[in-house]
Amino acid sequence: MTASPITARPIPSTEIDPFALESLKDPFAADGAVRELGSVVYVDKHDYYAVTRFTEIRKGLRDWRTFSSTDRPFYEDSEFRPRIVLFEEPPAHTRTKSAIMDVLGPKNLQWMGEYFAKEAAALLDRLLDGDVVEVDGYADLAVSYVLKVFPDVIGMPEEGREALLKFGSAGLNAFGPPSELRARKLAAGAEAVEWVERNIDRESLSEGGLGRQLYAMADEGRISEQEARDLVKTVFAAGFDTSTSGMASMLRAFGDHPREWDKLRRRPELVPNAWEEAVRFYPPNRFGGRWTPNGATVDGHHIPAGAKILMMWLGAARDPREFDRADEFVIDRNLRNGHLSFGFGLHTCAGNLVARLEATTLLRSMVERIERVESAGEPRTATNYQAFGHEYVPLRLHGASR
Ligand code: HEM
Repeated sequence: MTASPITARPIPSTEIDPFALESLKDPFAADGAVRELGSVVYVDKHDYYAVTRFTEIRKGLRDWRTFSSTDRPFYEDSEFRPRIVLFEEPPAHTRTKSAIMDVLGPKNLQWMGEYFAKEAAALLDRLLDGDVVEVDGYADLAVSYVLKVFPDVIGMPEEGREALLKFGSAGLNAFGPPSELRARKLAAGAEAVEWVERNIDRESLSEGGLGRQLYAMADEGRISEQEARDLVKTVFAAGFDTSTSGMASMLRAFGDHPREWDKLRRRPELVPNAWEEAVRFYPPNRFGGRWTPNGATVDGHHIPAGAKILMMWLGAARDPREFDRADEFVIDRNLRNGHLSFGFGLHTCAGNLVARLEATTLLRSMVERIERVESAGEPRTATNYQAFGHEYVPLRLHGASR
């Protein structure tokens, strides 16, 4: 992707403000409208270029030199997101990413999977105390489960864990223009900072957990002590809110599409695909920021050097050029080119295997125990800049005879 201004097609611009409150309330409508204006759209109000469609985002993310991550639009240094991994490029990125992937990868997945299964079963046995129960898929299922299993495998203390919710949310809202909303989210996150700073210390993390394994890499000289600390903090910031949102949104999708649940009961081998479809349908992360040190050409459009870029993968998840019936939740959909909800290319989510394992383990356990899932009221989405999720998902669960 090199710059070629002579043959460039004009870039449409828009007055739609993707960060206005009404856009945050329905980001699928806002980002979908911008996507249909063009594959690249200039957003006047905030002076950035949105790359909006599936194919162009995927192609752009392959080319990390052109779409650099060393500076991310709207980002200011804060205690919520250290400048590590996400802001790095090779060779620094290769070292820190391989360290974190090592810990979040195959060598730990076996025992984590067994532990997740035990806790998912215990949670569901507690919740399903009658033939039919009403629960909040966000608080009672997604948060209860993730707040137990995720900090446990990292090796965090029990007390004060709820801080992770606020911390994660602040981290994601750091990537948005200054506003009253951002200030509010950052202030809520600030309440969690002291807890987080204390608990990313080596001494606060229990032996054998993922956090201590990162510090062990510092002892081996693979990363520095400061990098180990920053990576533990990154895991705190990146791993909690995202997975909780993903699972709560998946439950909402099933509540709204009870026939898809019936299909899953008949064909439980669809569990992994159902989860991928859920994060395609409701991506927990709305966009990724980049910049163009030397300019770029996308789909014949020339983007100047030094421009701010947002890769709009939430809107691309509903791109009709890539997905048939893109606005429908179909658990046996053939995702031939995958989806972009874990990003793509150099910065593909480092925790994707853990998130996938966590979610599919819960889902499998639910499929065994629950005959029918239906909506029990109006769900509520959360209002965020970079994250998409639900804060309330009322569901009626009908237990299965076992
Ligand atoms: C459903 C859950 C999750 C979703 C949807 C998600 C989404 C993403 C996305 C879209 C990116 C790419 C950002 C970009 O390119 O700008 C990313 C990066 C990252 N994620 Fe996740 N994530 C999830 C869970 C997790 C978990 C559980 C962890 C840690 C345990 C984690 C750690 C990271 C890290 C460290 C990066 C930075 C990778 C890099 O820069 O190379 N994520 N995630």
